[in-house]
Amino acid sequence: MTDPSAKKILVIDDEEYIRDSVIGFLEDFGFEVVDAENGRIGLEVFDSRQPDLVLCDLRMPEMDGLEVLASVRRRNSNIPIIIVSGAGNIADTVEALRLGAWDYIIKPIQDMNVLYHAVNKALERADLIREKYRYEKDLETVNLQLRMSLETLEKTRDQLVQSEKMAALGELVAGVAHEINTPVGVGVTAASFLDAKTHEVKKIYEAGELKRSELENYLQTVEEVSNSILINMERAAELVSSFKQVAVDQSSENRRQFNLKEYIDEILLSLRPRYKKTEHTIEVSCEADIELYSFPGAFSQILNNLIMNSLVHGFQQIEKGTITVNISRQGKNILFVYRDNGRGMGPEEREKVFDPFYTTMRGKGGTGLGMSIVFNLITQTLKGSIECESSPGKGVVFTMTFPEHLETI
Ligand SMILES: Nc1ncnc2c1ncn2[C@@H]1O[C@H](COP(=O)(O)OP(=O)(O)OP(=O)(O)O)[C@@H](O)[C@H]1O
Ligand SMILES: [Mg+2]
Repeated sequence: MTDPSAKKILVIDDEEYIRDSVIGFLEDFGFEVVDAENGRIGLEVFDSRQPDLVLCDLRMPEMDGLEVLASVRRRNSNIPIIIVSGAGNIADTVEALRLGAWDYIIKPIQDMNVLYHAVNKALERADLIREKYRYEKDLETVNLQLRMSLETLEKTRDQLVQSEKMAALGELVAGVAHEINTPVGVGVTAASFLDAKTHEVKKIYEAGELKRSELENYLQTVEEVSNSILINMERAAELVSSFKQVAVDQSSENRRQFNLKEYIDEILLSLRPRYKKTEHTIEVSCEADIELYSFPGAFSQILNNLIMNSLVHGFQQIEKGTITVNISRQGKNILFVYRDNGRGMGPEEREKVFDPFYTTMRGKGGTGLGMSIVFNLITQTLKGSIECESSPGKGVVFTMTFPEHLETI
């Protein structure tokens, strides 16, 4: 019985005594051996028994060794073939090697160990080639999976960034509604007061009982109330137009010229409802004449995220937090320093603050995308840089620089 894991060797030779001696020798070493007395039969055995290695004579009747070699190569290029040929056939042996034979042995075989060595070497090499092939296939599969995961990740990231933007826009809309409520409410009250007063005066007038002093009084009221309506409606209009600009900037990616100080005031206005009921304060120092040619939408998203983080994380346990924003020119760049005096961050938090999905609020509304978006906006959209300094109990300092005038690329 041969070992089922034993390697199978096909010996093709027309000389029986050679076949017998080779077979006997190889079987002693535990190989399974099949044989054939010429090339044609050899190919049939090759197809039916699928050997791991072929030992083949060159000169044989019916089909010679070179033809066997060519046919085997066409079938499966990874099966090793060793030529066993007479010393006089050197030219054919060279041709056989050119056609893809792995090795050759000169007949008569003086030392069987040479045969054993050649067979083992060829089998080992064939194993290595098979293994390499398998590794390459595995690697290709893994690569493909990696590429697909990367694509999915990129798509998810884009969607998250988009939904983050939409969420900010939603907050902005809520802010608008809230802020506009006050002047519109005052306007409505004043107008209905005026309406009631006019009805009253009209009735007295129609009855012919209107006194001069009453008319004067009424006119005075009309003047005051309509003035108040005007102021409040102007305020509402102003709010609508500034919110409209911030909202448009936030949802589009337009580059335009804008006054930095005025723009920050507009952004703060839209954030007011988020901290109006707290005792936190925001102080901004910015020269009034800084005109940026840049992406205002990116700008409002950055400030929004920084302020929201101070409110949500920094001032979590603090009643009277202070945020300061210092903006100055530095040559052709703007230096933008954002500080809060909140709880600050430990070394690990500070190191990871710009990593996407890093959050200490997982499950409590944090996605961990805020600061990674800020980082990308500063470095990619605004072509600037950002650094973070912070330690526990010492608040945070984000130092950003970016060009005042963003060149068109
Ligand atoms: N001003 C701050 N004070 C203290 N910690 C902060 C401050 N800003 C950011 N952090 C820390 O950095 C982490 C990452 O901030 P980031 O804005 O990226 O995510 P998030 O605020 O947790 O979630 P998201 O902004 O997506 O809602 C926060 O979870 C918080 O631990
Ligand atoms: Mg955040």
